[in-house]
Amino acid sequence: MPNRMNIAVTHKEIEEQKYYINELKNRVYGKGLKYHIVTYGCQMNVHDSEKLAGMLTEIGYEEANSQQEADLVLFNTCCVRENAEMRVYGNVGALKAFKQANPNRIIGVCGCMMQQAEVANYIKKTFPFVDLIFGTHNLHRFPILLLQALDSNQTVIEILDSDGKVVEHVPVKRAEGISAWVTVMYGCNNFCSYCIVPYVRGRERSRHPDDILGEIRSLALDGYKEVTLLGQNVNSYGKDLESRILFHQLLRKVNEVEGIERIRFTTSHPKDLSDELIMTMAECDKVCKHIHLPIQAGSNRILKKMNRKYTRESYIELVDKLRRHIPDIALSTDIIVGFPGETEEDFLQTMDIVEEIRYDSAFTFVYSPRRGTAAAKMKDEIGLEEKKHRLARLNELVAKISKEKNQEYLDRNVDVLVEDISKTNKEYLTGRTDTNKIVHFRGSYDLIGKFVTVKITEARAWSLEGKVLDDQGSCS
Ligand code: 5AD
Ligand code: SF4
Repeated sequence: MPNRMNIAVTHKEIEEQKYYINELKNRVYGKGLKYHIVTYGCQMNVHDSEKLAGMLTEIGYEEANSQQEADLVLFNTCCVRENAEMRVYGNVGALKAFKQANPNRIIGVCGCMMQQAEVANYIKKTFPFVDLIFGTHNLHRFPILLLQALDSNQTVIEILDSDGKVVEHVPVKRAEGISAWVTVMYGCNNFCSYCIVPYVRGRERSRHPDDILGEIRSLALDGYKEVTLLGQNVNSYGKDLESRILFHQLLRKVNEVEGIERIRFTTSHPKDLSDELIMTMAECDKVCKHIHLPIQAGSNRILKKMNRKYTRESYIELVDKLRRHIPDIALSTDIIVGFPGETEEDFLQTMDIVEEIRYDSAFTFVYSPRRGTAAAKMKDEIGLEEKKHRLARLNELVAKISKEKNQEYLDRNVDVLVEDISKTNKEYLTGRTDTNKIVHFRGSYDLIGKFVTVKITEARAWSLEGKVLDDQGSCS
C-alpha cells in the first residue's frame, strides 16, 4: 500500500477543523447570509473555489446571485501572468465603498497571489478594508480564519511557507452538471524558468489513490458522467508515493469505475509522457482521445532557456507516436511568445512547429516576467508592441488551423456527451466529443447527461454545429 508519508493532515487537525465549522454553523445557520467567490486562473483554482464554496455551504452560507447581494466576497487569485494580478488589484480596490456601506460584510483575498509575502502585505496595506488574507497551502483552514475575521477589526492574514499538506475530506460544492474536476496531485517540481507556479504551489504531492478512487466512485453515484483529473503535471503522479503507483496505472483504475463514462486529464509535461500512458490512452475506452501537451516554444534555443527539457525534434517524435497509437487524437497546447531573447527567427520556429503539428486548439500568451523566477533575471526583454504583434500573428495561424481541423468533421457522425443548455441560445444544447470539440445542436433538455450521435453540419474555429440523429440514423 502506498503510504501517506508525512504530508497528510493529522487526526487532530481534522477534529479541529470540524470544531470550527460547528462554531461557525452556530453563528451563520438560518441567517440567510450569502457568499460570492470570484475566481481567476486555471482549473486548479476553479476547483479550489469549489472547495471554498463547499466549506461555506456546510457552514450555512448560500450562494449569492451577484456580488452586490453578498455578505462575504472572496477573490481566489492567480499570479501566473501580470494582467491577472492587475485585475485583482482593480477589483479588490473597487470594493471599498461596498465595505463602507456595510462594515459587517467580509472581504477575503486568497490563492496563488497571496503566497507571495510582498503581494499579501501590499494588499493589506493598500486595501485595509480587506478582512482576510490566506494562501494556497492553508485553504482547508478557511473556516478557522473566517471565524477569526468575524471577531476581529484587523485584517487576519495567514500564509504558510511550507508545502501544503494533502488534505482529504474538505467539502466540495461543484458546479452543477455532469462533469467534475478531481485533483490527483498538488504542486510542481519542474521550475520552467518563466513560471511562478512551483513557488506558490510548492513541490509535487500526490493524493493517495484510494482517496481519489473513493471520490470518483461517489461522484458516479451522484450522477457525474465525466471526470477531469487535475495536476500541474499529472505525468509525475505517484512518484512521491511509496508504492509508486504511476499515472497510467491510476487511469486504468479510474477506467473501471462504473457510471463514469469519460476521463480527461490535464496537464501533461511532454518530458514525462510515458509509452505506458500512450498505450493506456489507446486501450482504455473511457479515456478521451485528447491531450493537452504544452509546447511553449518552437525554437530549441528558447526551449533550453525555458528549462523545458525537450527539443522540438523530441516533441514532434512524441506527437508522431501519439498519433500512431491513437489515430484520431486531438491535440491542444500552450504557447508563450516574447520570451527574453526570442528573435524573429525563434518566433518563426514556433509558427513553423504549429503548422507542422496542426493543433486542434492552443492557449497563447505574451510572456510576463514574474518576480523570483529565473527568466525574470534574463536580459533582452522584448518590447510589448513586438510581443503583441507576434501574438496576433500566432493567433491568426492557430485559428486558421483550428477551423481547418474542425472542417474535417463536416458530415461526420460524432458521439457527444450532452452537458448543458447553450449559454447563447436556449433552444440549443451543448456537449463535447471525446476529442474535446464543443458541439451545439437543437434538442430537448432531457438529453442532458446522455450520449447522442450528432451529424456535423457546420464547422467554426472554436465549435461545431450539428443535428441529432434518431435511432435510425436520420436527422431529427
Ligand atoms: N508568462 C506568460 N505565460 C506564462 N505561462 C506560465 N507562466 C507564464 C509567464 N510568466 C503560461 C504557460 C503555461 C500556462 C498555464 O501559462 O504557457 O503552460
Ligand atoms: Fe509551471 Fe512548468 Fe510546472 Fe507547468 S510544468 S506548472 S509551466 S513550472
